Amino acid sequence: MARVLYLILSTIFLPFSIVAQQINGNGSIPVGASLIATYNGTPWLSPSGDFAFGFKQIQQKDSFLLSIWYDKIPENTEVWYPKDGPMVPRGSKVELTNGRGLVLSDPQGKEIWTSGSNNSELAYGFMNDTGNFVIVDSISRKIWESFRFPTDTILPTQVMERAEEINSKISETNFSTGRFQLRLLKDGNLILRKRDIPSGILYNVYYRSGTRDDSNATNSGLQVIFDETGYMYILRRSGQIFELNQKDALPSKLYYQRATLDSDGVFTQYFHLKNPTGNTSWEVLWSLPKNICNRIDGTDGSGACGLNNVCSLDVNLANCECPQGFSLLDPNDPNGDCKPDFTPTCDEGYDRERFGFIELTNIDWPESDYVRVQPTTEENCKTFCLQDCFCAVAIYRDKQCWKKKLPLSNGKKDPSLVVKAFLKSRKGDFYQPPPSVFSPKHKSQRSLIVMILSACVLVIFLSNGVICMVFFRIYKRTTKNHYPSNKSVDTNLPCFTYQELVEATNGFKDELGKGAFGIVYKGVIGETTVATEVNAIAKTHHKNLVQLLGFCDDGDQRLLVYEYMSNGTLAGFLFGDMRPSWKLRSDVIVGIAKGLAYLHEECSTQVIHCDIKPQNILLDDCYNAKISDFGLAKLLMMDQSRTSTGIRGTKGYVAPEWFRSTPITVKVDVYSFGVLLLEMISCRKSVVINESDSKDVVVVLTDWAWDCYQEGRLEVFLENDLEALDDYKRLTMFVKVGLWCVQENPSMRPTMRKVIQMLEGVVEVNEPQCPFPFSVTYN
Ligand SMILES: *[C@@H]1O[C@H](CO)[C@@H](O)[C@H](O)[C@H]1NC(C)=O
Ligand SMILES: *[C@@H]1O[C@H](CO)[C@@H](O)[C@H](O)[C@H]1NC(C)=O
Ligand SMILES: *[C@@H]1O[C@H](CO)[C@@H](O)[C@H](O)[C@H]1NC(C)=O
Ligand SMILES: *[C@@H]1O[C@H](CO)[C@@H](O)[C@H](O)[C@H]1NC(C)=O
Ligand SMILES: *[C@@H]1O[C@H](CO)[C@@H](O)[C@H](O)[C@H]1NC(C)=O
Ligand SMILES: *[C@@H]1O[C@H](CO)[C@@H](O)[C@H](O)[C@H]1NC(C)=O
Repeated sequence: MARVLYLILSTIFLPFSIVAQQINGNGSIPVGASLIATYNGTPWLSPSGDFAFGFKQIQQKDSFLLSIWYDKIPENTEVWYPKDGPMVPRGSKVELTNGRGLVLSDPQGKEIWTSGSNNSELAYGFMNDTGNFVIVDSISRKIWESFRFPTDTILPTQVMERAEEINSKISETNFSTGRFQLRLLKDGNLILRKRDIPSGILYNVYYRSGTRDDSNATNSGLQVIFDETGYMYILRRSGQIFELNQKDALPSKLYYQRATLDSDGVFTQYFHLKNPTGNTSWEVLWSLPKNICNRIDGTDGSGACGLNNVCSLDVNLANCECPQGFSLLDPNDPNGDCKPDFTPTCDEGYDRERFGFIELTNIDWPESDYVRVQPTTEENCKTFCLQDCFCAVAIYRDKQCWKKKLPLSNGKKDPSLVVKAFLKSRKGDFYQPPPSVFSPKHKSQRSLIVMILSACVLVIFLSNGVICMVFFRIYKRTTKNHYPSNKSVDTNLPCFTYQELVEATNGFKDELGKGAFGIVYKGVIGETTVATEVNAIAKTHHKNLVQLLGFCDDGDQRLLVYEYMSNGTLAGFLFGDMRPSWKLRSDVIVGIAKGLAYLHEECSTQVIHCDIKPQNILLDDCYNAKISDFGLAKLLMMDQSRTSTGIRGTKGYVAPEWFRSTPITVKVDVYSFGVLLLEMISCRKSVVINESDSKDVVVVLTDWAWDCYQEGRLEVFLENDLEALDDYKRLTMFVKVGLWCVQENPSMRPTMRKVIQMLEGVVEVNEPQCPFPFSVTYN
């Protein structure tokens, strides 16, 4: 029997498709070609190999950016990427698709971006040596060009027409549309201006070429031209030229050149030796404007740098730095806002004795003052600020004193300022070292997952980028009474009204998928159970459990609000196009084991999950495993008689004791965990029904794992997962643990605590026995 299963399996599981597409070497990409985001992927190269199109790993993380970059120099210089630089996980794919152009999709197949192609019959794509990716149709028209959709950079031979623009990115590692824009206006004027990130509103023009339509329209700008020699100018209607840099500055044969609107707002033309011998890097040829710290001011915004931040000039490049007593809101965004380590408040007990000052020189924030006192002395200036609970900063210059409030804007540092700035601080905070740039990243209120328990179990996720929600709704069938009031739920959880959740989810509009609890549970919920269980669930806190954030108990509507997990379910990840790395899989396994051990052993009330499976494991931003749906199984199990229809759980993961008259214990979860562990090792589903033959053949992963293990043929079980096979000792150990967990006899299965010790190598794993000594076969 077992041998038969093995043979069937090896035909079912074909090798995973080969990742990198071979290119022709002439830069031409055939229609249908695709690239997958991997650590060592081969990009599509231009004929000379100067430029590459493909996935670039960003910041050593499991996140990739579809982009065009210089392939022959070590610096990471992305010259093009889709608007707002969407980061995609490993296993994402870009394909040159007939009728649609370039299509970027994530490992679950969700479309992230597409170039569009005018529904044309495509002939080929082409990575040109100019750095332009073009798509050509069957009658040789250029249907799409990356040069027509520039992001923050323009390259030699690229032209900017009227009403076209480039935008800076937010920071070195965040490619979303940033704070600055260079645009050739419809009237022919070339301008640089600031952009408010959340609203997209544009303001504070800080450079104007002046080449606009006026009485003599022939003088106005028509195009910004960056010619192949690296000469950049505005071509006027009249055919005359408005120079942005000088002609023939550098021999283009020897140098790469690019012009980029950097995330600090400076538009800069750079050059780089094509064949560097030794230590070279991008160097500045010229830049606009000359002094950005002084060019952006006024009350419209925060200035060249973010709020509370201070701008100083370092050879034409703006340098933003938080002053002492402040640290970056987002450590990866040095040009962004700085948050104060402490904010003065006017609480009742304001006691000036508790405060002092950090003294800084030549720093000023010219816009944030609310009182000016003159003439006065430096000592009095400080005293005024101490006495005033609103005052956060006092500026003293030339017998004048300005009191300022937070947040501060237009911060500048310049020796010519000749001012003293006194930043109010708590005594004792004085001589701390300046705040580290790597302080924990500020997290704004995280998004939510809402669950409504429902008769017709709905799972809805709303993804407007901020809020995602799952809903299960339970209609109370039996009684018209109200549920116990919130008071009976002894938690500190926020309570939402139904209307709030309707609004938060936009009327439960977008559906994400199906929930774990079927119609089986309809009407079973007792009144107090919900409250009690909310209470029990609320008290579970563990890094490997999805956190309950709040609930709603409003008339007939009962909802649980959970934190949002950006990377979706383990099922999507595990059974997607690309096999996740062995390292990641083994980390996730240990995380799940820890979460389960916590539910079994460390909660105030023991929780049996009853439905451990990949669909119920969610992954956060950093691919930490988080168990979801816990507590609900228990909640819904109340009053269930132990008949065969009372089986909780999902086919393939269900422990045998559900079918027998043995008691249900935490060991049912250990069994399901064992199945999940074997799935994670092999990236295969627990049960596969092969319908290709005349009759269905059921293939059971646990049986097959035992056979492969016994025969010492784990490479078959893992299907040449070289990364895992390289880690053979640990791999074998994991398989053994899996086989112990799926023992038919519950008492043979280890506890989750023991499982963790085995997985972490703290205790030895004995040779497993055959997991199913009494089992009858399925077919
Ligand atoms: C590139 O080479 C392939 C064959 O190797 C050929 O079919 C295609 O026409 C070439 N494309 C260009 C643009 O030269
Ligand atoms: C590549 O760029 C060169 C120089 O601009 C141009 O002559 C050529 O037509 C481009 N090739 C394609 C396929 O667009
Ligand atoms: C796109 O399609 C429209 C109408 O179908 C046509 O007028 C236009 O020329 C096409 N553009 C390109 C670049 O082929
Ligand atoms: C980039 O910055 C934007 C705006 O601050 C933020 O919404 C987004 O999450 C950031 N993206 C990444 C990958 O950090
Ligand atoms: C407009 O400007 C062009 C180029 O500067 C000049 O030759 C022409 O005489 C001007 N026309 C008028 C009406 O000023
Ligand atoms: C390369 O040059 C940079 C500055 O231009 C310098 O900081 C760095 O130490 C140099 N590296 C080597 C290996 O010479």
